[in-house]
Amino acid sequence: MSTTTAHGYTYDETLTTSPVTLAQLREVEASVLWSAEDAAALRRAGEILVPQTDAILDVWYGFVGATPHLVETFAGPDGEPSPEYLAAVRERFGLWIRDLCERDHDQRWLDYQNEIALRHTTARKNATDGIDSPSTHVPLRHLIALIVPITVTIRSFLESGESDATKVDAMYQAWFKAVTLTVALWAQPYAPELW
Ligand code: HEM
Repeated sequence: MSTTTAHGYTYDETLTTSPVTLAQLREVEASVLWSAEDAAALRRAGEILVPQTDAILDVWYGFVGATPHLVETFAGPDGEPSPEYLAAVRERFGLWIRDLCERDHDQRWLDYQNEIALRHTTARKNATDGIDSPSTHVPLRHLIALIVPITVTIRSFLESGESDATKVDAMYQAWFKAVTLTVALWAQPYAPELW
């Protein structure tokens, strides 16, 4: 795995222990039909996707930037999208693509899912980059809804590195499951009592 890092990226540092247990993680994995074959397919996807990280982020940032109710979460003190905030998060987003494909689902992975979750909520949003933003949290409805664009836009990137349609399908399904699994975990601090 590459060792690239970014400001505020704390995966390999001391992390708050996730309130989600490994047993609960395994249950959510089962709910999304996660299997050892998916883990292998996702690693193969990583080999294709990680070198294309910038192009993938261009697509996602293009969509978020063009969608007012999404880009408003990146507002700076003047209420306009903050280029500094967007750029800082973009770097960590790139590392997330790599981590999603390559990291094992162990306690550390679970703890960093909790960290990312909190950074979308009032608990920790804006703190990592020291942004004085009027946006206090990412609305849960949009967090969940973004599973769709984050998934459907990935197929063409997979196809650019794999001509066998069956293998593309396996990687695509593994990606979809992994994104859904992480968003299910990220929902935890939004509704701790009901999660
Ligand atoms: C499937 C859905 C989503 C994924 C996979 C995702 C992924 C990420 C990642 C990887 C980070 C950086 C985490 C880190 O600090 O290491 C991040 C931060 C952020 N995301 Fe999302 N995100 C999603 C949904 C959304 C939505 C819907 C919005 C806006 C409406 C949003 C706005 C933000 C903002 C503002 C930050 C920076 C938070 C901070 O201040 O630290 N995200 N996201």
